[in-house]
Amino acid sequence: MNTSDFDIDTLIKRILDMKKYRDSGLNPDTIRDLILQEAPHQTSSKKLLKFVKRKLHNIVAPYLGEPDYEKLRDELKQIINTTPDSPEIKSFCETVLSEHASTAERLPYMEAFYIQLFQQTGIPHTILDLACGLQPLAFPWMGLPLSVKYHAYDIIQPRVDFINDFFETIGVAPLAENRDILVNPPDIKADLALIFKEAHRMEKRQPGCNRGLWAELDVKTLAVSLPTQDLSGTHSLLEQHRTLVLDNLTEGHNVEEIVIENEIVFLIRKGQA
Ligand SMILES: C[S@@+](CC[C@H](N)C(=O)[O-])C[C@H]1O[C@@H](n2cnc3c(N)ncnc32)[C@H](O)[C@@H]1O
Repeated sequence: MNTSDFDIDTLIKRILDMKKYRDSGLNPDTIRDLILQEAPHQTSSKKLLKFVKRKLHNIVAPYLGEPDYEKLRDELKQIINTTPDSPEIKSFCETVLSEHASTAERLPYMEAFYIQLFQQTGIPHTILDLACGLQPLAFPWMGLPLSVKYHAYDIIQPRVDFINDFFETIGVAPLAENRDILVNPPDIKADLALIFKEAHRMEKRQPGCNRGLWAELDVKTLAVSLPTQDLSGTHSLLEQHRTLVLDNLTEGHNVEEIVIENEIVFLIRKGQA
């Protein structure tokens, strides 16, 4: 199909009007991109919509968990000592982190994870957290100063709003943004960019997309983490994910690996920021 064969805004609206996405605050840029990528390979709007819905389900991944942000916001407002290392804030963050599969898996080794990571990269003044999910709620364990510029990106508006409320509560600049990092890669100069547990899923959305994104980022170091095992814990994904990283590198990049429990972090030294 050509783009002249359908009205793209109508298709986007049809998806956003679905019960599943109606209140999700999903970024329409993501849907537009999926439609434009797939249209040439489909013969009808019906088939195109079906394909886009299936892809979207894997990108939004509701099966990984979604907290009740209104309830959490009320709980956050009740906290009296709002410094990042206060026991109330830490306990609140642990509850939130446990509500999404990705951060829940990291919880048992979270502190060691950030210590090891920042030992290798240095403490960043400016950090990009790409496809952040709920990871910014791990701030109390990161050992970062409150003055850090923590730019977090996700495609779900209520998640982004909640992260900004959390940042404001603990005294960090509220720099979370609703942005599809593949459609609009951030151009902010930063010491470090994180892409945690999403590069393999982005590769499924659009094979080879990581290569363009990684090349475009204006950062000294890019930390790409990937799971070392599948969700059931029965298959090693180590070699497959090493290959993914190697295939997406542009020449001359130095890569180091840190394995922390069931997550491998590839540190890609870009050096130009
Ligand atoms: C598997 S979770 C990983 C979360 C976090 N990085 C971690 O390791 O805990 C993926 C997150 O990326 C977001 N996401 C997926 N594709 C994205 C894109 N193209 N741009 C921005 N965010 C994206 C999803 O909404 C979801 O919150």
